[in-house]
Amino acid sequence: MTTRHHIASVEDVSEEGSRVLTEVDGVEIAIFRVNEELYAMANYCVHQGGPLCEGELDGRVSVGEDPLEWKYDGEERNVLCPWHGWKFDVTTGESINNDRYKIPTYEVEVENGEVYVLR
Ligand code: FES
Repeated sequence: MTTRHHIASVEDVSEEGSRVLTEVDGVEIAIFRVNEELYAMANYCVHQGGPLCEGELDGRVSVGEDPLEWKYDGEERNVLCPWHGWKFDVTTGESINNDRYKIPTYEVEVENGEVYVLR
């Protein structure tokens, strides 16, 4: 059964790139503001259990048609695990390096200036 949990005030995550870490039913969860939206993700790295959501937000590097031409999108929506550097897209929970890996994400609701997570 899904339950709605109060996490924070919208003011606590009002700035782009800001985050709030909390615990819901024994699971650490972070709320991120990315691209003016709020996203919730488990603070658990599937590599070796590191505190993923404590890492820096970063963009994404890709290779163009010319393999020597690397591009950086500058869109800081990916969190970099502080333990070994695996990177996950905050908006989907998906690894940007290997599509076999995904972090649990949760639906976020905002009502009357308060942020809730459904879990
Ligand atoms: S525990 Fe996150 S990259 Fe290793």
